[in-house]
Amino acid sequence: MKDSNYLKANNARSLWHPMTAPSDSLKNPPVIVTGAHGVRIRDLDGHEVVDAVGGLWNVNLGYSCQPVKDAIARQLDQLPYYSTFRGTTNDQVIELAEELRDFFAPDGLTRAFFTSGGSDSVETALRLARQYHKIRGEAGRTKFLSLKKGYHGTHMGGASVNGNANFRTQYEPLLPGCFHIPAPYTYRNPFNEADPARLAQMCLQALEDEIAFQGTGTIAAFIMEPILGAGGVIPPHESFMPGVAALCRKNGILLIADEVITAFGRTGAWTGSRLWGVQPDFACTAKAITNAYFPFGATMIAEGVAEMFERDESGKAAIGHGYTYSGHPVGAAAALACLAETKRQKVNENAAARGRELHEGLLALQAKHAAIGDVRGGHGLMCAMELVADRATKRPADKAVPGKVQQVAYEAGAMVRVSGPNIILSPPLVLTSADVQIIIAALDKGFASL
Ligand SMILES: Cc1ncc(COP(=O)(O)O)c(C=O)c1O
Repeated sequence: MKDSNYLKANNARSLWHPMTAPSDSLKNPPVIVTGAHGVRIRDLDGHEVVDAVGGLWNVNLGYSCQPVKDAIARQLDQLPYYSTFRGTTNDQVIELAEELRDFFAPDGLTRAFFTSGGSDSVETALRLARQYHKIRGEAGRTKFLSLKKGYHGTHMGGASVNGNANFRTQYEPLLPGCFHIPAPYTYRNPFNEADPARLAQMCLQALEDEIAFQGTGTIAAFIMEPILGAGGVIPPHESFMPGVAALCRKNGILLIADEVITAFGRTGAWTGSRLWGVQPDFACTAKAITNAYFPFGATMIAEGVAEMFERDESGKAAIGHGYTYSGHPVGAAAALACLAETKRQKVNENAAARGRELHEGLLALQAKHAAIGDVRGGHGLMCAMELVADRATKRPADKAVPGKVQQVAYEAGAMVRVSGPNIILSPPLVLTSADVQIIIAALDKGFASL
């Protein structure tokens, strides 16, 4: 490694960082992370903190998961790469597809299409959804519906169904035929409705209305996160996703569950769809599938959709889609080891228990600090706090405020994430109760500094 003076002098000089302005990275140099173990990361100056971001919602098993590291090293020696395009495959990806078929059986998802990450998995689902309708002879079903506040990655298709202007405006025009309905976000919504069950019904009515307005026969799919993540952790009422699934089914619209964050235990259930008792037509996965140690993803496909493709003799089911790294053998080996560890450690159970503690801790902070307008969570290890300048009017906090809390919390022992007015927490699922308390204490200091 180059010495620390060199790294600090060149920090952000010759690279652009995602999700921030280049000028911001130069003015506020990013933390240079150089090491990690367990649920902790260490920076260039040797300062060590609990990583309450969990990498980026993906290091579910922490930084010291030896079986995944060993599997990657072994596979690099055995077969570091080969393509899975027509005519060739590899042993690891065959085994992984069978494992995933077992894992997702309760969700009714039985086939996998492999990708290099979450945005790829979303793009794959959107494209295959259109193709499904063309195979069935309903070529006019091309539109996509989604939720405002939803996040579906940054490819052109994903950005088009995204429900946050930050990821859209500078890249418009986006894909035509994408329409958004209000999210079941109790703190702020166009209906001024704070009751989660009533709000869920209103959002479902808005969806029904939009379907009727667009025309059922023009819509290919509805895409949603079972719990909205990057948009500020918005858990819908339990009636919402089943209600969406029922409307989709009634109208011949495919349901795509974007499980890039929620799959593999984060919500306390093995998948977000399972948490709500829904069987989607597609599920997009990535992130924790390899514990973040290798960029990899899988779009899971329901049996009924798969049969439509597999039965077709017309040629319309030929998949004109795929990535050079689809089914990468090193990624597949990492995913196999990661799935085994994920199940062996039953991380979903720990996520549920530690998630309750974290949520309670945040509610206690809200009782103490006026800047915390809303606390969201209660389903595993995904929580958020929305910061306000004034609780009565819900006026958002000044831009600098979340950053100040983050900085002081970091100095006090926890890395947290800022996204707009929200502080978002998505720690590894192997967190202990003591780690939860470190995060709460660090945030307490952050808010006390305001
Ligand atoms: C729900 C959801 N979908 C898609 C993505 C995009 O994944 P990636 O950044 O791996 O492309 C993310 C990333 O955070 C996500 O949270």
